[in-house]
Amino acid sequence: MTAVRWLPLLCLVISCVASPGSGLDGADTGDADTDADTDGFDPSLVTGLPCEIDDLLETRCRSCHGDPAVGAPMSLVSYDDLMAPSLADPSLRVAESALHRMLSVAAPMPPGAPRSIDAAATAAWGDWLDAGTPMGECGAAGGEPEPPTATCSSGRHWDPDDDDGTPLMQPGRPCLDCHDRERLDDPDDDDIPTLLAAGTIYPSLLEPDHCMGAEDPELVVILEGEDGVGRVELVPNSSGNFLVHAAKAPDLKPPFRVTIRRGDAERRMSIPAPHGDCNACHGATGKMGAPGRVLVP
Ligand code: HEC
Ligand code: HEC
Ligand code: HEC
Repeated sequence: MTAVRWLPLLCLVISCVASPGSGLDGADTGDADTDADTDGFDPSLVTGLPCEIDDLLETRCRSCHGDPAVGAPMSLVSYDDLMAPSLADPSLRVAESALHRMLSVAAPMPPGAPRSIDAAATAAWGDWLDAGTPMGECGAAGGEPEPPTATCSSGRHWDPDDDDGTPLMQPGRPCLDCHDRERLDDPDDDDIPTLLAAGTIYPSLLEPDHCMGAEDPELVVILEGEDGVGRVELVPNSSGNFLVHAAKAPDLKPPFRVTIRRGDAERRMSIPAPHGDCNACHGATGKMGAPGRVLVP
């Protein structure tokens, strides 16, 4: 992508679309330049966005681009988030890349049907860019945005005082990582298993550690070698944990192709899992770009 010249685009959008009664807040539809001058906020107190920008992000974007982002590469919450360089094209700021993507037919944001954002709202966004992205007061009064709260769907929790190693242990936590560290501490402890892969499956994306996951005899986690060699089918136990000992599948090596099946329903990881410590990426909020927990299909 090359750097963008906003003026032609904006004239187009605004003259075609920002007609009277467009549904925007009356006071804000005026000249954006004046807006910037008369906002009257104290920058030492306020780091927020103009309300029409904040509202659009809140209603259409933050389900993924929240803080933390869930299933999207970055947050769209603070003014700074929008001023950061775009990940896809660092010559643009995220605020600019966002308008591109909202207007894009090939790669729309939000994902799905293109141009799903009200034309008046994208015009207002263009106005804001044209005015030099002045700060606003929205969201400032509320202080920090509420982080999404993880809820334990099963209502059952593993007891952290239970220090026995069993296949039911530590649902939600990265299994292989801890076993590796424990083995470094105590190389002679034969009770620490060498697992090829393990994780916990949940009914929702946002579930806290130690919450018991989904228990369903129809669920099966299928791992196949990306090279076509080796395959295991794992059934989650009553903690929602699934695991395979390295010794049980000597042919299978990471990276894995991952499929989860329940009857006819299925979820696949579209990229191969680089290693078998599923919960390391599929943590309470999702790390390394993972959308959150390993999810029941
Ligand atoms: C359902 C989840 C979801 C929603 C809702 C969503 N996005 Fe995204 N967004 C993604 C994902 C996933 C990516 C990364 C893949 C891609 O670029 O297509 C992304 C990428 C982007 C990028 C490119 C990254 C960059 O640095 O340039 C921008 C900009 C963006 N989104 C803006 C928005 C805006 C603005 C909205 C709301 C109008 C929105 N997104 C709504 C999931 C979402
Ligand atoms: C905080 C560290 C830690 C985490 C996290 C952890 N384990 Fe363990 N695990 C251990 C230790 C230590 C043992 C050795 C048993 C002992 O010393 O009591 C063990 C033993 C085991 C055993 C062997 C039990 C047996 O009967 O032989 C299994 C199976 C196991 N863990 C599965 C898991 C699974 C599945 C997860 C992830 C959902 C997990 N563990 C997460 C520390 C951990
Ligand atoms: C290095 C990080 C990482 C590891 C390890 C990892 N995943 Fe993923 N997983 C991701 C990312 C990123 C995505 C989102 C992109 C995609 O769908 O491929 C994802 C997506 C998925 C999906 C599809 C999500 C959906 O809603 O359709 C499933 C299912 C899944 N992973 C299961 C697993 C299982 C099971 C393991 C362990 C064997 C695992 N993952 C290990 C990063 C990881």
